[in-house]
Amino acid sequence: MFGKKKPNTQIDKDQLELIENAQKRIRQKKRLYIHFVIFLLGAVFLIIANTVLGIGKNVTPFGKDWFLYAILAWSFFFIYHFLNVFITQKFMGKAWEKQQLEKLVAKQQARIEVLKTKLEKEEKHIIKSEVFKNEQQVNNALTSKTQELTIIVAAAENDAIGKGNKLIWHLSDDLKRFKTLTNNHHIIMGRKTFESFPKPLPNRTHVVITRQTDYKVPEGVVVVNSLEEAVNACKTDSQPYIIGGGEIYKQAMAIADKIELTRVHESFDADTYFPKVDPTVWKETAHKFHSKDGKHDYEFTFLTYQRK
Ligand SMILES: NC(=O)c1ccc[n+]([C@@H]2O[C@H](COP(=O)([O-])OP(=O)(O)OC[C@H]3O[C@@H](n4cnc5c(N)ncnc54)[C@H](OP(=O)(O)O)[C@@H]3O)[C@@H](O)[C@H]2O)c1
Repeated sequence: MFGKKKPNTQIDKDQLELIENAQKRIRQKKRLYIHFVIFLLGAVFLIIANTVLGIGKNVTPFGKDWFLYAILAWSFFFIYHFLNVFITQKFMGKAWEKQQLEKLVAKQQARIEVLKTKLEKEEKHIIKSEVFKNEQQVNNALTSKTQELTIIVAAAENDAIGKGNKLIWHLSDDLKRFKTLTNNHHIIMGRKTFESFPKPLPNRTHVVITRQTDYKVPEGVVVVNSLEEAVNACKTDSQPYIIGGGEIYKQAMAIADKIELTRVHESFDADTYFPKVDPTVWKETAHKFHSKDGKHDYEFTFLTYQRK
């Protein structure tokens, strides 16, 4: 337990290869040195063979002794050997070059794999944080929502609400209720409903939706080009009302929080209708019946629905 740690004598594959290559190189240099010595001795021997021993004495190409040509040829061969060892380094051979290249490629591939996994991890992280950001935004929007967008409408048993751009009935208590509820609030309406009024209603901010870009209105009336814009125009009002008509009700059913419906207990011939109130989406929270009397030709009920 307290003994000296054994030195690690293991040599890895790369180190072994380096050692082998170094040994190879030493052998190559040795061979070049031996070649040089043999060359010197050989040159001396050739000179002696020709000049002293008289071998090939009569062989004198271009007027020169043959040993000069032999030494010259050998020197070329020696220079070639020298260049191979020190300049072109061919001594390592093609196989060695290929091996080094393969190793380099393998190393690069391994590095790419590491980078890929890192990138995938980063991507997952980014996606997670984006989803979290979106959830946060939705949560913030929901928690900061203080506005109650309310549809207010009077509809017959067959959902009829108007004909020839006019209301079908006159129910004074319903109009009074409409006045009380909408007083001092924004009232969002379609262009046709707006045109069905003789003049804008007092104490209310009229927001008129039209696709026309040059629609002229009296001072104080706000003109917008979509329901979304209309809702944005009421940001300062905690209780804006959508007052019709048929086209706007249809679109607003998806975004409204509340419906104040006066159900007139009669069926009428009409050209404009209120959409069905889906009981899976809407919950009835208030119910007040009004009977027929001298001022009211029909029975009706004030109904309040809240989005479930
Ligand atoms: N019983 C009730 O409680 C009640 C209440 C209100 C109205 N009404 C009745 O309903 C009838 C009118 O209803 P309606 O359906 O014919 O017309 P509307 O809904 O009052 O207005 C329709 C117009 O609004 C504009 N519009 C609609 N959707 C739009 C959008 N997404 N973007 C931009 N502009 C848009 C268009 O104006 P442009 O054509 O100018 O582009 C369209 O022609 C009348 O009979 C009225 O008396 C009944």
